[in-house]
Amino acid sequence: MMLMFRSPLFLLLLYCATQTLGVKIESVPGVNSEGFIETELKKTVSLFCSSEADEELVWLRNGALVNLMEGNNKGRSSVCVTPVIYEDNDATFTCHLGRNTTVRDSVTLNVTYPPALSGSEEVAVEDAAMLVLRCDIWANPPVSSVSWTLNGSAVDLLGGGFTVTNDGFTSQLTTNRVFESLHEGTYQCTAISSVYGEYSKAFHVTVTEKTMKFPLMPMIAALVVVCLTALLAVVSRWDKITKCCK
Ligand SMILES: *[C@@H]1O[C@H](CO)[C@@H](O)[C@H](O)[C@H]1NC(C)=O
Ligand SMILES: *[C@@H]1O[C@H](CO)[C@@H](O)[C@H](O)[C@H]1NC(C)=O
Ligand SMILES: *[C@@H]1O[C@H](CO)[C@@H](O)[C@H](O)[C@H]1NC(C)=O
Repeated sequence: MMLMFRSPLFLLLLYCATQTLGVKIESVPGVNSEGFIETELKKTVSLFCSSEADEELVWLRNGALVNLMEGNNKGRSSVCVTPVIYEDNDATFTCHLGRNTTVRDSVTLNVTYPPALSGSEEVAVEDAAMLVLRCDIWANPPVSSVSWTLNGSAVDLLGGGFTVTNDGFTSQLTTNRVFESLHEGTYQCTAISSVYGEYSKAFHVTVTEKTMKFPLMPMIAALVVVCLTALLAVVSRWDKITKCCK
């Protein structure tokens, strides 16, 4: 017996057994060669984990325990992600044996979505005030380009005193001082996604007359003058008034 335990064949069999006694995740839709499951917002992803020995299984989502229904953890266990949301992008699901966390398999979700750009917005801006237009360009995969037009042609950055910034989430077109002749019109931002194509949003910008800001200090000065004059007038007439009252 002791001899048999030490035979190379036995060790080889033991090795094969521990290799196959692992856990494996399968999914709908399937896992690609890089270990990613490609999906989109609002869709459903079904994950199935199996261990060859009828062992207890544990699921983790980004390292946190996933609560499983009674009976959904012996030998085979499934987890359903529905609906898929933004936060599921890059989420890693891991299945491991209850008794040995090193016997595990993992998959990561790749949730693709277009930028949330559509429709149009009315924008009224006061003459000489600042104009700021913002477009939400957050998408997966990231958009390949963003462009701004005014009345159908590319905005004249220099001529219009515009600056464009892009932090990966928002593209912002700004000009510090609007002039009706230069800045009124229809603006449009367009983002191009390699997966979803073109997405755009329009802004109908009208320049309104500058409203008079209430000139507080001159008003106070004027009121003081009016009051003093009235007071002086009363004082100068006090003689007459008191005389009348007698
Ligand atoms: C867990 O499994 C690994 C790989 O099969 C093995 O090397 C290790 O000894 C096991 N650990 C325990 C505590 O069983
Ligand atoms: C996710 O899928 C998109 C579209 O197929 C791809 O361009 C991107 O590289 C993928 N991201 C990862 C992290 O695999
Ligand atoms: C854009 O078009 C509108 C309407 O035709 C016009 O009133 C406006 O002056 C134009 N804006 C510029 C900057 O040319």
